[in-house]
Amino acid sequence: MIYFTGDTHGETSRFRDFLNYGEANWTADDTLIICGDFGYLFKNDVRERLFLDELAARPYTICFCDGNHENFPAIYEYPVKEWNGGKVHEIRPNIFHLMRGQIFTIEGKKIFAMGGAYSRDKAMRTAGRSWWPEELPCDAEYKEAAANLKAHDFKVDYVVSHTAPTEIIRRVGWTPDIHDGELTGFLEWVMYETEYKKWFFGHLHLDEEIGEKHRALSFDVVAV
Ligand SMILES: [Fe+2]
Repeated sequence: MIYFTGDTHGETSRFRDFLNYGEANWTADDTLIICGDFGYLFKNDVRERLFLDELAARPYTICFCDGNHENFPAIYEYPVKEWNGGKVHEIRPNIFHLMRGQIFTIEGKKIFAMGGAYSRDKAMRTAGRSWWPEELPCDAEYKEAAANLKAHDFKVDYVVSHTAPTEIIRRVGWTPDIHDGELTGFLEWVMYETEYKKWFFGHLHLDEEIGEKHRALSFDVVAV
């Protein structure tokens, strides 16, 4: 099975919460996908590395698209590999950062990943310690995302992102932030151009179905 969940923010307790969703029985055939703000590689210290080693001993695969609260230079230190049709940073043999704009085939399902978001709390954070400018995609990442969607005839099964299309942010009653208008606008273009069954996103820290095709995730775990 593929399991989607929302931001984990480096909270080790989340992996205890996953027990409520059958985590103890997840096997090498299962994949957990976190919709950004992974956060287990944030301070980049020994404690985090030990927890990542602990996660590496689990039989299942853990993937994440990046959120805005990530230590990007630390993630980028890991090797880029080709994995299930798209590019990843391999953090551990079973832990992968799904790079922006990539399409992966997992259990025969195509998944388009597009991480990133703007930090509204940027003023409270310190550049290089708790905030990094790579939180928003660059032109090359947008172009690669569009090219990959085109190569797949704009047809995937699932989309995983951190923030959401502008229209979806409005639909849940939030005011889209102008600072990440380029990204939420791009995601809106993806939403209209692409065929998909369901779109999972985090960022808003909400567990809510938005219509039939969009699912805001925080603590919930949804299996597909
Ligand atoms: Fe978050």
